[in-house]
Amino acid sequence: MPSRRLSLAILGLGVLVLSLAMDASADHHRRQRQRQRDGKHCLPPVTSPAYRTECGACHFAYPPALLPSGSWRAILQKLPEHFGEQVDLDPARRRELEDYLAANAAERCGARLAGKIMASLGGQAPLRVSQVPYLVRKHQGDDLPADAFSRPGVGSPANCAACHTGADQGDFDEHRVRIPPR
Ligand code: HEC
Ligand code: HEC
Repeated sequence: MPSRRLSLAILGLGVLVLSLAMDASADHHRRQRQRQRDGKHCLPPVTSPAYRTECGACHFAYPPALLPSGSWRAILQKLPEHFGEQVDLDPARRRELEDYLAANAAERCGARLAGKIMASLGGQAPLRVSQVPYLVRKHQGDDLPADAFSRPGVGSPANCAACHTGADQGDFDEHRVRIPPR
């Protein structure tokens, strides 16, 4: 009976549209809740085991919302010459990371800190988290001794977790900072 099949198809389409709409609204509410729960300086922590494995082996696994998707795309494109290192990924793994980073990049994140990062970039997509203007500014205050980034156990401004004790949970609040001694 073709008409029965047709009405089934229409019903199916209706369910699809409805569930897409519910999805979008759930997404919206999730972001809103996140914004309320957030301290001012928190980001969602890393959730992808693949990302943690591949991109946390040599350094802190940066929460994706620290950079816009354009930065992550450029970083993944340049992996054979990754800041003087060669990072090898098979194509499937690379695609997995690309999807994860694109979906969780700064412009997709409702956290206030992500908004500050995006606003400070003015459309630029730097290859380094430590070059994000908002973060550079935040580390120029009097609370940071001049030699802080070169102290033992720190070594570089990119070594967030050396000072931010909650960095692994995406927490960059200044109240959880411990600068290692000289
Ligand atoms: C073989 C070691 C290695 C692996 C694996 C690796 N990196 Fe790196 N990464 C480095 C080195 C070395 C630097 C430069 C560190 C510095 O200058 O302080 C760096 C720097 C970075 C920076 C810039 C940090 C900053 O703000 O200055 C980002 C972002 C980054 N890596 C992302 C990634 C991503 C994404 C992956 C996974 C696809 C990855 N890295 C895997 C070695 C590695
Ligand atoms: C040498 C220690 C050190 C390193 C490394 C470091 N930070 Fe910080 N960070 C600080 C200190 C200290 C402050 C507080 C500065 C102030 O309030 O004047 C701060 C402030 C911040 C703030 C603002 C927090 C607030 O409550 O106002 C953010 C966000 C932040 N850091 C992110 C990062 C990220 C991301 C990295 C790595 C790319 C990083 N930091 C690396 C010491 C460090």
